[in-house]
Amino acid sequence: MIFRQLFETDSSTFTYLIADPDSGDAILIDPVRETVERDLQLLKDLGLNLNTTLETHVHADHLTGARLLKANTGCDIAYPAMVQSSCIDIGIREGEALKVGNIELNPLFTPGHTDHHHAYLIDTPVMKMVFTGDALLIEACGRTDFQSGDAEALFNSIHNKIFSLPDTTLVYPGHDYEGRFITTVAQEKVRNPRLGGGRSKQAFIDIMDNLDLPYPRKIDFAVPGNEQCGACPDNVPDEYKGSCATHDQG
Ligand code: FE2
Repeated sequence: MIFRQLFETDSSTFTYLIADPDSGDAILIDPVRETVERDLQLLKDLGLNLNTTLETHVHADHLTGARLLKANTGCDIAYPAMVQSSCIDIGIREGEALKVGNIELNPLFTPGHTDHHHAYLIDTPVMKMVFTGDALLIEACGRTDFQSGDAEALFNSIHNKIFSLPDTTLVYPGHDYEGRFITTVAQEKVRNPRLGGGRSKQAFIDIMDNLDLPYPRKIDFAVPGNEQCGACPDNVPDEYKGSCATHDQG
C-alpha cells in the first residue's frame, strides 16, 4: 500500500492518500480545496490514478477539494449516503466497503460531530488503521455544538465503533492543532482528557456542553460549499477566495 499523510495549514486538516501500487488506483480522504495542486502533483509523481475522493463528513472549517479533483482527474466523489447532492457519485454506508485496487476501506457510522459522519477502517492481517475524521482526535474530539452535533451520539460512536477496535489500531485524525500526527486506540482510551480513563457519558456531555468555543470562521460558506462537493458559494470572503479565483469550478 502507498500511504501519505498530508496537511493543510490554514484549517489544520489532514488529507490521506491511499493507493494500491499494483493497480495504481488511489483515493484521497478529506482533500482540501487549497491543496488540490499539491495533491495532483503528488499523484503524478507517484504514477497514480485518482479513482475517488472520500469525505468523512460535510466539513465546516474548510472547502473540500473533491470538485476540483474531479474536474482534473475525472475521479468519483464519495460522501456518506445521508448527504444528498447531485454532485455526489458514490453514497457511503457502513457495511459496504469501498475498494481501491486490492485495498478495502470499511465505513464506520460515527455520528455525533455531525449526524452523517463516517470513519474508515483498513483492516489487514498486519495492521489496522482507522481514519477518524472529526469523531476522535488526538487527546480531543470533534465539537458537537453546531451542524447536527450531538455529544451523546459522539460518545456512543467513539466507544462502540473506535474504542472497540484492538488497542494497537493506528488512529489517523482529521485534524491536529498541536503538531501531532497519529495516535492509537490504547493511547486515547487512557490519555484522552474527554473520554479516557473510563470517563462516563454524562461527564463527557458536560465537558462538551461547556467548551465555549468560538463560532467557526468558515462555516457560513464551507457547509453550503461542501454540500456542493467543494464549490465556492457567493459569500466566500475575499481573504478565503484564493482557491476559488484560480480554478474552474467544474
Ligand atoms: Fe468537521
